Amino acid sequence: MITDDIDFCVEKLKAEELVAFPTETVFGLGARADSAKAINKIFKTKSRPSSHPLISHTHDIHKALSVSKEVPQYALQLAEKFWPGPMTLVLHCDDDKQISSEARGGHDSVAVRVPSHPVAQELLSKCDFFVAAPSANRFGRVSPTKSQHVQEEFADELIVLDGGQSQVGVESTIISCLEDKPQILRTGKITKEEIETLTGLEVISEGVIKVAASGTLDNHYAPSIPVYLFDDESEIVLKHLDPAKCAVISLKETNLIFALENNPKDVNEYAHELYSFFREAEQQDCQAICVFPPPNIGIGVAVNERLQKASNTFKD
Ligand code: TXA
Ligand code: MG
Repeated sequence: MITDDIDFCVEKLKAEELVAFPTETVFGLGARADSAKAINKIFKTKSRPSSHPLISHTHDIHKALSVSKEVPQYALQLAEKFWPGPMTLVLHCDDDKQISSEARGGHDSVAVRVPSHPVAQELLSKCDFFVAAPSANRFGRVSPTKSQHVQEEFADELIVLDGGQSQVGVESTIISCLEDKPQILRTGKITKEEIETLTGLEVISEGVIKVAASGTLDNHYAPSIPVYLFDDESEIVLKHLDPAKCAVISLKETNLIFALENNPKDVNEYAHELYSFFREAEQQDCQAICVFPPPNIGIGVAVNERLQKASNTFKD
């Protein structure tokens, strides 16, 4: 069921039930982080391996940082600048009570986030616990950016708090703050350049810290129909695709007639539209999704990373 009753959702969370809720990145599948019983429901509902740690959400920056006694100066800077917002910080966890081992996938670090979405803010401010939430999709599927997406994914079993379409449209930037320099574990709206400018530190490259992170699996973010990346329209014909049976997303209007066409006006709108467009193409039973990727600037880096992964399964 889809509801806009925030107090009802708070009661359900308190009672160790699951509630899907909107954030500015994507919708989350929430449960109280201090309850092993509630967290296990997330893993079961998503069919996600329980060793994959979850992000714990709260409304307040200081509460978020209170989980750790070892918050580096640069993490504080990042929190003050980008929270509330589309950023997740991985910190050493010193609060086993509030963040159960189950929410952390058994790790001794914790991922925390303060979302800015007004509905998420109100929901979280009424909870005296952290709400752990992965994206509200079945394991390996595209993240939902509308309440209807969540409902379609889990049918009527689940309570979904409404909140319009997620503004950013791709998942949060995850930054590990476990070393003396920040490390990006997953790209998002907050970019490497922004982190370096703010902190004056060089962001260390991927792959130094090894934690099971779902978004880092190669087949993640893939819709059920093939995704092909193109630079030029002529390549579509060469691939023997019939545009009339395909969907296309491109910053520029195309000359061919497609079953479904989306022309975002810039890279931010591209990110905002992408997952929703994937789902629409699936629903219309398109033969393939033809993608003209946006430039690799700003959130374009995160979009291109998702596009690479979405198209990986179908490379031939
Ligand atoms: O935008 C988002 O981040 C959304 C909204 C709902 O907040 N959440 C989200 O959650 O994308 P999820 O579970 O789909 O992706 C979170 C990622 C996973 O890849 C997980 O492995 C990683 O965060 N993660 C969580 N805790 C971690 C930790 N302690 N160390 C490293 N990675 C961690
Ligand atoms: Mg996810």
